[in-house]
Amino acid sequence: MELIEPGLVFTEGDPARNLYVLIEGMLVTSRKVGGDDVEVARTGRRGVYTGAFMAYLGDRVPQLYPNSLRVTEPSRFYVLGADCFEQIMNEWFPMPVHLLEGLFFGGKRTADVVGQRERLLALGSLTAGLTHELNNPAGAAVRATASLRERVTAMRGKLKLLAGGKFARADLETLIDIQQQAVERVAKAPQLDPMQTSDAEDAVSDWLEDHGCSDSWQLAPVFVQAGLDTEWLDQVLDMVGAQMLEPALRWLNYTVETELLMNEIEDATTRITTLVGAAKQYSQLDRAPFQVVDVHDLLSSTLLMLSAKLKDIKVVKRYDKSLPKIPAYAAELNQVWTNLIDNAAQAMNGTGTLTIRTARDDGCVLVEIGDTGPGIPPEVQPRIFEPFFTTKPVGEGTGLGLDIAWRIIVNKHHGDLRVESVPGDTRFQIRLPIQPEGQAEAVQAGSA
Ligand SMILES: Nc1ncnc2c1ncn2[C@@H]1O[C@H](COP(=O)(O)OP(=O)(O)OP(=O)(O)O)[C@@H](O)[C@H]1O
Ligand SMILES: [Mg+2]
Repeated sequence: MELIEPGLVFTEGDPARNLYVLIEGMLVTSRKVGGDDVEVARTGRRGVYTGAFMAYLGDRVPQLYPNSLRVTEPSRFYVLGADCFEQIMNEWFPMPVHLLEGLFFGGKRTADVVGQRERLLALGSLTAGLTHELNNPAGAAVRATASLRERVTAMRGKLKLLAGGKFARADLETLIDIQQQAVERVAKAPQLDPMQTSDAEDAVSDWLEDHGCSDSWQLAPVFVQAGLDTEWLDQVLDMVGAQMLEPALRWLNYTVETELLMNEIEDATTRITTLVGAAKQYSQLDRAPFQVVDVHDLLSSTLLMLSAKLKDIKVVKRYDKSLPKIPAYAAELNQVWTNLIDNAAQAMNGTGTLTIRTARDDGCVLVEIGDTGPGIPPEVQPRIFEPFFTTKPVGEGTGLGLDIAWRIIVNKHHGDLRVESVPGDTRFQIRLPIQPEGQAEAVQAGSA
C-alpha cells in the first residue's frame, strides 16, 4: 500500500515497473496523441488499475507504460512490482493467462486486419469517387482543346484571305470592332431552354438563308449559343454591307466558337480544381488530424466525392447553419458520412431521396442521414453495428461500414450513433459533443 501525493506517477513509454490499483483518491490517465497529452480517464473508482497490467504477457509485448498517470489528490494505491505480478499470474493462474493471451493477441490481430481494411475503404471510396468525377471534366477539357486548335488553325487561314485584299482597311477595322462586341456578348449570353433555343436557331437560320449564306444550319447554333440574334445580324449587315456579309459572318462565327470553347475549358478546369480541393478537404491530407471543424464543410466535400453514386438520387440538405464548430477528427467523420450515405444509396437502389439534416440537440451537434429505402427489419436492427454483419451478397458488402462508423463516433468522439427505421424512412442519427470534456468516465483506467 502506498500513499501518493498529487503529481505525476509515471510517464507513457517508460519501462512498466509496477501495477497500480486505486484504493481511494483520484487519478487521471492520459496518452500522447500527435504531441498533445489527451486525457483518457479521470476517476476515483476503487479498484481501477493501470500500469504494468500486461506483465503476464512477458516479453511478447513491449513492457512499457501505455499511458501516463497523475493523481490529483493524495491517493492510496496497492502497488505490485511487474516481476512479482507476472510470476503470480503464471504460477497461480496458468489457464486464465492462456485465455487472456488468446483474447489479447487474437483481438490485436483482428484490429490490425480491420484497421488496414478501414484505411483501404477510405482510400477506395476516395479514389473511386474522385477518378469518376475527374474523368468528365478532364475529357471535356481535352476535347475542347482539340476543337480549339482546329478553329484557331482555320482562323489563321481565314486571316490570310481577309488580309489578301477583299476587305478595305476600314472594313477590317469595323470587323474587329464587331468581333470585340461579339466576344462581350458571349460572356453575357443568357441561358435558353431547349424550346427557346430551337426557336432562336430557326430565326437566325432563316435570316442567314434570306441573306444568301450557305450552311446556315451550321452557323446558327453557334450564334444562338453565344446570345447573338437577328437584330445583331442586322447590325453586322449595316456595318459590313451585303457583299462582304458572308465572309464576315464566317469570321465572326469562328471568333464566337473559340470563345465558347475557351469557356468550356475554363469550366472544366475549374471543376477539376474544385474536385481536387474537395478531395483534399475530404481526406484532410494537409490538415491536423484533430481540429475544430464545421460539419457542413465535411458533409459537402463528402457529397461531392460521392456525387457519381448519387446521380439519380434527390439530395435534400436541411442544414442548421448556426451550429457551432466542433472539435473532431475530420477525415474520420468524412469516413462516417461516406459509409452511411453509401448504405443509404445502396438501400434505395439508385432512386429515392437522401435527406441530410443538421441540428442542435442539447450539448451536441446532430447529423441525420435519412433515406427512403425499404428500411431495416426490426429483427436485423440490433445486429447492424456488429463487425462483419451484412445482408448483402458475398462480394458486395463486408459488413464493416457501420462498425467503423460506430468506432469513430462512439469510441473516438464520445458521441452517439443511432438508427430509426420503418419502410420508406430510415434515419441514422449521429450526435457529436460540442465540448470535448463530456467524455465518459472509463471503468478501467488502463486500456486492458
Ligand atoms: N440505410 C439502410 N437501409 C437499409 N438497410 C441498411 C441501411 N444501412 C445499413 N443497413 C443494413 O445494415 C447492414 C450492415 O451495414 P454495414 O454498412 O455495416 O455493412 P454493409 O453495407 O453490408 O457492407 P460494407 O462493409 O460494404 O459497408 C447492411 O448489410 C444492411 O442490411
Ligand atoms: Mg455499408
